[in-house]
Parts: sequence; structure tokens; C-alpha cells
Amino acid sequence: MESPFKADIVKGKVALITGGGSGIGFEISKQFGKHGASIAIMGRRKSVLDSAVSTLQSLGIKAVGFEGDVRKQEEAKRVVESTFKHFGRLDILVNAAAGNFLVSAEDLSPNGFRTVMDIDSVGTFTMCHEALKYLKKGGPGRSSSGGGSILNISATLHYTSAWYQIHVSAAKAAVDGITRNLALEWGTDYDIRVNGIAPGPIGDTPGMSKLAPDEINNKAREYMPLYKLGEKWDIAMAALYLVSDAGKYVNGTTLIVDGGLWLSRPRH
Ligand code: HXC
Repeated sequence: MESPFKADIVKGKVALITGGGSGIGFEISKQFGKHGASIAIMGRRKSVLDSAVSTLQSLGIKAVGFEGDVRKQEEAKRVVESTFKHFGRLDILVNAAAGNFLVSAEDLSPNGFRTVMDIDSVGTFTMCHEALKYLKKGGPGRSSSGGGSILNISATLHYTSAWYQIHVSAAKAAVDGITRNLALEWGTDYDIRVNGIAPGPIGDTPGMSKLAPDEINNKAREYMPLYKLGEKWDIAMAALYLVSDAGKYVNGTTLIVDGGLWLSRPRH
């Protein structure tokens, strides 16, 4: 689908996207690139990074991939620094890397719980922590006025509760807390806007194929009147709004992009 935004709304900006090689992260990378940004993507798998970068480059987007795991502070630091060295600035950090699997609370080991907390919550904080130096107003490559922005990809499942996802619910609730607290502290001190997006079920993503196999998905359609899948594009357009000047007064919010699904109830 064609973008409703002008092609230069993030022109000249440099974005680092964790988990940017696949799924929602890749679509955000592509749309930011198509709207003028230079893109660095971070991920654990070299083959995924390589293929994502060559797709972006074939679209005329300036793109580079850096291998790294958001759970490791040294790798987070190295990737942020490499992004700065490569492009000479950093304006936008998108935390899209996530880990997930379905398991009952009874069967989930504390280490399984911790693994998802480490990727989603601690990983998000670690990336923000390492990127601060470059995002704050007056930081390397920036003027003393404008700061950069951060976008954290969350979910809606912790607004109520979700079967077999206690670890993800806890992790995404923490992500929303990180978004609000950094918005307060870093918005005030450094002119950095920090926002989030809470996607509903989005088609053609690793999350959907892992968490909602067809049989669950089809059942959900039967009892949820509003049930329909979103597209990765929907999340990328929300992301563009939040990081561009269109969203310049938006700080500390997590925008729900789910077609109203989390509110939906059967009619009777
Ligand atoms: C039960 C499991 C498990 C499973 C792992 N564990 N998979 N427990 N059921 N299916 C437990 C292990 O037993 C282990 O605990 C601990 O978790 C760590 O497992 P590892 O395999 O060592 O972890 P690792 O190799 O680091 O892999 C991380 C991962 C993996 C999260 C388990 O799936 C991954 O890397 N995923 C990244 C890609 C991904 O999931 N993308 C989808 C994002 S979608 P013990 O106690 O045995 O040591 C998304 C949508 C969210 O996030 C919103 C939903 C609406």
C-alpha cells in the first residue's frame, strides 16, 4: 500500500532498529528508509541481517547490518557506536527485538521467564542506556537544540491477561514502564521523546506464526467479532508518525495499533 506521508519526512535522520531484519522491525526499517532515513539494523543472525540489508539497498536505502544480542551490554554498546561511526549521527532508536513462545505458567521455568524479560525488557533498557549519549541534545553529531527519539515495540496482551504468555505479559508491561519513565526523565533533561507502539495481531510475522497457529487464529475469528489481522505496514505508519515531526509533542505514550481488538467482546 502506498504511504500517505511525504517521502522526506525523516530525511537525513539515522535510525537503529533492533530486530530490524525481520517481521515488524524490518517493515519499520523499510518504511523509514523509503521516507529518507539511513538505516542500521541489529540482530543475532548474520544471514537474516545480510538479506535484509541487501533488500533495503536494492530499494535505494542506505542500510547497514550489525550482529548483536540486546541481552549483552557490550554488544549493545558496540552496535550503537558502530552505527554512529558509520553514519556520523544517531537520531532514532527502535527497540523491536523480542523473544516469545507459548507455555503455561506451570510449565515455564524461571529461566524461561527470565530469558524473555532479558530480551524484551532489559534489552530495551540496555539499548536506550547505550544510545543516550548520541540521542541527547548536544550529543555527538547533534546541535544543542534537538534531541532524538526512541520507539519501543510493546503489545496489548498485558492490558488484560493472555493464556500461556505470563513471561511476555510481564516483559511488555515493563517495556511500557520504561517508555513512560524515560519520556519523563530524558524528555525533561535531554529533549528526547520516548514512545511506544502496541501492535495487535499482525499478519505475516514471526510472532503470529509462533503464537497464533492457524487453528487458534481461526477459532478466534469465530468468537471475536472484530477479529482481523493488521499489516506490518500499519505499524510502520504509526512508527513514522511518532518519530517524525508530526509527533513532536507526543511523549511517553504507547499507541495501540490493533483495530480496537483488545476492547472487543462477543456480541452476546
Ligand atoms: C518452554 C522454553 C521454550 C518453550 C525456550 N524455553 N523455549 N520453555 N517452552 N517453547 C526456555 C528454555 O527451556 C530455557 O529455560 C530458557 O527458555 C532459555 O531458552 P534458550 O533456548 O536457551 O533461549 P535462547 O536460545 O536465547 O532463545 C530465546 C527464545 C527464542 C526467546 C527462547 O525463541 C528466540 O530467540 N526468539 C527470538 C525470535 C522470536 O521469538 N520472535 C518472536 C517475537 S514475537 P531452562 O530453564 O530450560 O534453562 C513477539 C510478539 C509479542 O514478541 C506480542 C504478542 C502478542
